[in-house]
Amino acid sequence: MKNNKIKNIAVIGSGTMGSQIAMVCALGGYQVTLQDINEDSLAKAKQSLEGHMQRRIKKGKLSDDQVSQAFECMRFTSSLEDAVKESDFVIEAIVEKLDAKRALFTEADRLAPDHTILATNSSRIVSSEIADATNRPEKICNMHFFNPVLVMELVEVVQGPHTSEETTEITSELIKRINKIPILLKKEINGFVANRMLGKLMDEAIYLLENEIANVEEIDLACTKALNHPIGPFALMDLVGIDVVFNARVQNYDGTGEESMKPSTVLIKKVEKGELGRKTGKGFYTYS
Ligand code: 3HC
Repeated sequence: MKNNKIKNIAVIGSGTMGSQIAMVCALGGYQVTLQDINEDSLAKAKQSLEGHMQRRIKKGKLSDDQVSQAFECMRFTSSLEDAVKESDFVIEAIVEKLDAKRALFTEADRLAPDHTILATNSSRIVSSEIADATNRPEKICNMHFFNPVLVMELVEVVQGPHTSEETTEITSELIKRINKIPILLKKEINGFVANRMLGKLMDEAIYLLENEIANVEEIDLACTKALNHPIGPFALMDLVGIDVVFNARVQNYDGTGEESMKPSTVLIKKVEKGELGRKTGKGFYTYS
């Protein structure tokens, strides 16, 4: 199965990541089916994508034609069978729960054609924890996008011990065709490359805050104005979701037992209060 034979992509899970992954694939000229068991989530995804595309048209970054062609290439469905039965490539972007992902991969493996690659967008679960739930381990890999997917250019491809070279080649080629930049990790590692580095930055920001060295705004300013990061670590935690950051810490701590991985009191309190960032209107900052 060569990349130029890939025509149909199924994206499973219509949350923030899945919906934007589907959109970049459609803008790249692929026929895309976005699947979610929740019809409301699909409707919200469509509405949100239309908003993002309208803003790009207004800014002159995309033409009306490009956007309408992309939407013509997209289908929305709640049926997994409908989504994957004629797919050449499946990208899973559902909840970060191993059992749910394994169950989905077993089903997708049963329903998809034999040649189809099944990739996971998981940031924490390596594909070797999933591959044995299928009969095609050589066609399973991680394909990790960054938030917001419409903007962030890098995608990490992670080769598990079971993943064939052909699978990572096809996946990397697909990433280039949707105007993104792939990096290939030849071995699995917890957190991959970018999130490992980001985790250290966030930990240090929290350390400085908890020790009352500087406040949220000042620490963020140090990153934006001294290091030229587009946003600081607290603004970024609000963007990604404080619950997402917290859950990653819990998983890392449970997995390694390392004291330094323990979620900080600041994160625990934010999660307890439901102050999860932009999505709840309040995190480290308040949003109108
Ligand atoms: N979804 C889609 N597009 C968005 C967006 C969103 N939530 N928020 C902003 N954008 C787009 C805007 O439409 C605009 O697009 P355009 O350039 O094509 O017109 C562009 O981003 C710039 O937006 P703004 O001018 O409104 O705002 P900023 O200049 O402040 O940029 C940002 C916003 C792109 C989010 C920028 O702050 C940024 O790059 N932040 C860092 C993001 C980052 O580090 N992401 C990685 C997170 S870690 C991760 O994803 C790991 C994973 O495992 C969860």
